[in-house]
Amino acid sequence: MCYNRAMKTNIILVGFMGAGKSLISRELAALTGREIITTDGMIEKAGGRSISDIFREDGEEHFRKLEKQAVASACAQEQVIIDCGGGVVLAPENIARLKETGVVFYLSATPEEIYRRVKDETHRPLLDTDDPMARIEGLLAQRRSFYEQADHIIDTNGRLPRDICQEILGLMGGTPSAQDMSA
Ligand code: S3P
Repeated sequence: MCYNRAMKTNIILVGFMGAGKSLISRELAALTGREIITTDGMIEKAGGRSISDIFREDGEEHFRKLEKQAVASACAQEQVIIDCGGGVVLAPENIARLKETGVVFYLSATPEEIYRRVKDETHRPLLDTDDPMARIEGLLAQRRSFYEQADHIIDTNGRLPRDICQEILGLMGGTPSAQDMSA
């Protein structure tokens, strides 16, 4: 499969918290020379506050508004890797916008695998609960149909990052890297 390069040049990663979007973004960047844009990073930079502070001080609804603005700005870029926060897919306008400008990959992982990856981390307000495993299972069940609107579902369970990246780049159909484009 080969995507229309004029339209869909971005590599876009969606998936649950802890699904490996940051790690795979970094690996893809190393392989392709593309820049990484993270929606959470844009929000934190624009507001000068951490995601946890935004949730605590202004609530999730406000965060989702900022997230829509971040998605719109990210989608104005070309030839980049967009690492989306885990809830980006919940807004239909976000997913529509992302699919217009890039190929959207859902990095899928089981609740057990996600729990294993996030259990020692503290920066995710939605998992700051007495029973994070139950929260992961509940949110994942609610969100699965949103994630599955991606162009491709990539199973990450028990796989090496390099192997996942090769699958993604194969599905991009040989879309050139930033280095190729500037050559
Ligand atoms: C969220 C995921 C987080 C961050 C925020 C909300 C979510 O990003 O955007 O805490 O709703 O799933 P990561 O998926 O990068 O952890």
